[in-house]
Amino acid sequence: MNPIIEQLKQHRSIRKFTDQPLPEGLLETLIEAGQAASSGNNIQAYSVIRVANPENRAKLRLLAGDQAYIEEAAEFLVFCADMKRNTEATARTTGIDPVMGMTEQLLVSTVDVALMAQNVAIAAESVGLGLVYIGAVRNKPAEISALLQLPKHVSRLPCSRPRSETSLTSCFHTETRCLFRCG
Ligand SMILES: Cc1cc2nc3c(=O)[nH]c(=O)nc-3n(C[C@H](O)[C@H](O)[C@H](O)COP(=O)(O)O)c2cc1C
Repeated sequence: MNPIIEQLKQHRSIRKFTDQPLPEGLLETLIEAGQAASSGNNIQAYSVIRVANPENRAKLRLLAGDQAYIEEAAEFLVFCADMKRNTEATARTTGIDPVMGMTEQLLVSTVDVALMAQNVAIAAESVGLGLVYIGAVRNKPAEISALLQLPKHVSRLPCSRPRSETSLTSCFHTETRCLFRCG
């Protein structure tokens, strides 16, 4: 058996975390690994929100089933299915008015973001980090969308949380199309 298969077979969700910060640049590397995932028509229909603000973390914890590790974790990433960015870009470049809200768009973006998130998860585990997806971020859609300032046609998927603590508040975009900002 090769090491990648061995690692995949050893996956376990982790719900207790140390406060050890991630090494500089690792989070960006994990996101790059996520962006390397296959994507339907390569539109990468997702956005990732890094929730760094402790107050927002505390609110999110309560909104997402009062799961303590949402607040305690070093990093908390919300992976969003996002059809807004691509359709708006298409509209800008082609002049065609996009039709939004179709089931196909929901499927495409949900598959894209799940593949991307799982790449991030596997990459995180490969460097010894622990994580757990949090489906409860789909709870209370109005409140959580408002907290994360989600525009229409962007929806939340479970999060993974590499362990270690961060107080970073800077926002940045990666070179490619995945929006990565703090919340
Ligand atoms: C879509 C999805 C949503 C999940 N939501 C939660 C959650 O809200 N809280 C939690 O503690 N675990 C959550 N999990 C983790 C699952 O409970 C876990 O993956 C499952 O029990 C299998 O355990 P394992 O990951 O250790 O193999 C979620 C997993 C997935 C894939």
